[in-house]
Amino acid sequence: MSEVLLIEDRGAVRILTMNRPDKLNALNHALTQALHDALRVADADERVGAIVLTGAGRAFCAGADVSEFAALTAEDKQAIAARGELTMRLHLLFSEIGKPVVGAVRGHALGGGCGLALACDLVVASETARFGYPEIKRGIVAAVVMANLVRQVGRKTAFELVSLGEPARAERALALGMINRVAADDRLLDEAAALAATLAGMSRVAMGATKRLFHRVADMALGEALAAGRDANIAMRAYRREAKS
Ligand code: COA
Repeated sequence: MSEVLLIEDRGAVRILTMNRPDKLNALNHALTQALHDALRVADADERVGAIVLTGAGRAFCAGADVSEFAALTAEDKQAIAARGELTMRLHLLFSEIGKPVVGAVRGHALGGGCGLALACDLVVASETARFGYPEIKRGIVAAVVMANLVRQVGRKTAFELVSLGEPARAERALALGMINRVAADDRLLDEAAALAATLAGMSRVAMGATKRLFHRVADMALGEALAAGRDANIAMRAYRREAKS
């Protein structure tokens, strides 16, 4: 059986490639777990400064593997709960690790796949990309993925995406702030890797602290968020003094 996740280093950039191209990289249990574990390993590896997440073949990721869910019945409560937990942990992990993750998206990024793209810190997409949440059209809910979506685009747009289930092309996703850059399809991975290399070249301590603070303040009330920024400011000044002496 071929590996569901390919792992390759380009200098200080670790490239994780979801590798189920014949299933448009649908997230089965094995791929979800492998991605979760690989993010943790990359975060702990001091040779790695930044991560790129991409998909093999014509799609980034077509979401949860619906064939796996079709095999489950209402009686499989433990399996259903364990899978929901793993998916939730994977999406949370992007914000917990100190190293920045750049998504490189071509083709479909749907449901859980769109959620993974939005969980990345920065996203480069090719003009072939389609970002969307088609769950409603299947009579199900864009569930775990809703948390990042509603934090990253306006509420009206977020509700439109989850209630109509129509995908957004790369240019619209860019205008909505779902992604950072659009690249030519044949340049996608190189551009994402170059962006990741720039991030990897920054101070690791400053990048980790920036990422931690970013995710903390995004969800806080203003007063609390400013206090968290003040604390990070003091901590970084102390760090820089120690680093110089
Ligand atoms: N889970 C499992 N398999 C999937 C999948 C998914 N989410 N999405 C695509 N695949 C599989 C297809 O079953 C097909 O496999 P097969 O060749 O063995 O039959 C293969 O990937 C290619 O998909 P196909 O539908 O033939 O490609 P397409 O270009 O005609 O259509 C999509 C692409 C993305 C529009 C279509 O595959 C789709 O709607 N997928 C489901 C997307 C979705 O609802 N995601 C949220 C799940 S909760």
